[in-house]
Amino acid sequence: MDTNLAVRARGVSRFFGDVVALDAVDLDLAQGQIHGLVGPNGAGKTTLLGLLLGLATPDEGTLEILGTPAGRALTAPDGVAGFVDGPGLYPSLTARQNLAALAALRGGTRTAPIDDVLHEVGLTDVADDRVRGFSLGMRQRLGLAAALLTRPRLLVLDEPSNGLDPAGKRHVHGVLTRLAADGAAVVLSSHRMDDLEALCSEVTILATGRVVFSGPLAKLSAENRELDYRLRTSDPAAARKLAEETPGIRPVEDSGARRDSEVLVFRALVPALDELVTRLVRAGVAVRELAPVVSPLEAAFLALTEQEVPAP
Ligand SMILES: Nc1ncnc2c1ncn2[C@@H]1O[C@H](COP(=O)(O)OP(=O)(O)OP(=O)(O)O)[C@@H](O)[C@H]1O
Ligand SMILES: [Mg+2]
Repeated sequence: MDTNLAVRARGVSRFFGDVVALDAVDLDLAQGQIHGLVGPNGAGKTTLLGLLLGLATPDEGTLEILGTPAGRALTAPDGVAGFVDGPGLYPSLTARQNLAALAALRGGTRTAPIDDVLHEVGLTDVADDRVRGFSLGMRQRLGLAAALLTRPRLLVLDEPSNGLDPAGKRHVHGVLTRLAADGAAVVLSSHRMDDLEALCSEVTILATGRVVFSGPLAKLSAENRELDYRLRTSDPAAARKLAEETPGIRPVEDSGARRDSEVLVFRALVPALDELVTRLVRAGVAVRELAPVVSPLEAAFLALTEQEVPAP
């Protein structure tokens, strides 16, 4: 057994009647890393995270969590914390009382000080307000505080950025980064790649229950793939003509940009793009803007999950 692995899943499947929610999933989560789980709606993210939290057990395959095989018992394995489908909180209690209740359930031992975790997630000012009046983002942060209270070695969060404002997002990012730096494994889901870019070193992409990519982000973006680019120049007509003459440049007609518009949208690999820019400059056409329509990572994600690239 690899002791650096917080989670080792092999061939894990989970069925709901005829629906294959997870289809022979392999997953390795290393200690000290933040791992992103990404996929379209219904891909199986919540189902997989639920297995890690002990909310259900795999129908097929083997799952080891923190070195222990996941048994048939439906309990959160020791050292694992987090939530799916929003944190379970008592609305009539304050933030502090919620955490105190949780600490009491745990016998008050081995839990972190309540004031510390409230401070960590930025809820000190509302610590004595009832949760009933909390916004979605505040509930998410309190859910994270509740998870931190147990000093987890594996933290599992389902779409934690839901409802977070930019400041909240920064707070949560800081907390997760510190936790991973202290050696815990963190796994979080999102249906947006750009959400995970700033935070995760590794991602697993799920599509209809299957793993279509798992590995470092760098490997995903470096994959040699055609992208759609937007090009704005000082002479759109000349640019269009040069683009049509350059091998490997394919105009994207249904791009939403009008044919006579200033912006030209085309699909190309990087070498063809280099050639076009060289030809433009040689012809005295100034390049004012040249950028991928969606980020390379988002494009890789969309291609792997076979989703339509939105028109620019
Ligand atoms: N309790 C359940 N009963 C029946 N089907 C379920 C149940 N939970 C999940 N499913 C099905 O399993 C599949 C995966 O669902 P899951 O909730 O894991 O996807 P997800 O990736 O979390 O999606 P989303 O981005 O919408 O949250 C879907 O087809 C869903 O309809
Ligand atoms: Mg989900």
